[in-house]
Amino acid sequence: MRVRGREGAARVQNAGPTRRTVGRLSLERVGSGAAAGGGAAGGESKPGTGARDPRHRRKANTVDREGTAGRDDGRGEGRDGPEGPTSSVTLRVNGTVHALRLDNRTTLLDALREHLDLTGAKKGCDHGQCGACTVLVGGRRVNSCLLLAVACDEPVTTVEGLARDGRLHPLQEAFVARDALQCGYCTPGQICSAVALLDEAAAGHPSHVTPPHAARAEGAADLTRDEIRERMSGNLCRCGAYPHIVDAVADAHRETVR
Ligand code: FES
Ligand code: FES
Repeated sequence: MRVRGREGAARVQNAGPTRRTVGRLSLERVGSGAAAGGGAAGGESKPGTGARDPRHRRKANTVDREGTAGRDDGRGEGRDGPEGPTSSVTLRVNGTVHALRLDNRTTLLDALREHLDLTGAKKGCDHGQCGACTVLVGGRRVNSCLLLAVACDEPVTTVEGLARDGRLHPLQEAFVARDALQCGYCTPGQICSAVALLDEAAAGHPSHVTPPHAARAEGAADLTRDEIRERMSGNLCRCGAYPHIVDAVADAHRETVR
């Protein structure tokens, strides 16, 4: 039955909040899955994303470190629930093997931060544009917000795994010595990216600014400041600490080739 006039307008007005509420709920449900999940540093909510408190999410999609727990409904392990299908995932992170059961849409970043409590890698844009989530997968730098955990079959190294025998990685020491940070939000991603950068340069990989004759040359690439800037250009720093970041990478490079 079509409703017209004032009565109809009143009904539409009354329907408004309900619709909005339903919309918000469905947003939150999406947020409990992969890419939209998780807050910024430390798990705080990200305004406007529908992301919820991670503690909330863990209850809705219970996964423990051994991968033995099922969902909260008690119907058993790994049942596909309203959030979507799940998979058993084995992640090797910083030398430790973790067996998890994850929603198939869970990104590596969310798996690290929300299931393994490794909060070094940060969620900045969640769209592969800022580099705050950079970790090493099989020794190569990747934006972990763009990689599904179920597709990650190589060892993962996060900033928490760079130190050796109680000693910081040379790049971590260089960042401290050069005061190459302000708020520090981008720093774990910058450091992981720089670790891979040094390996890439040592292997002779050219960059966009490498002169053609040098790109064809054998041996390690010459890491000029322009090279470092170009090779670190996928890692944004909202505080603008770039000059000191370049200094720190150059120092660590000198240290490692000495
Ligand atoms: S959070 Fe992954 S690139 Fe920005
Ligand atoms: S130090 Fe603040 S974003 Fe880089």
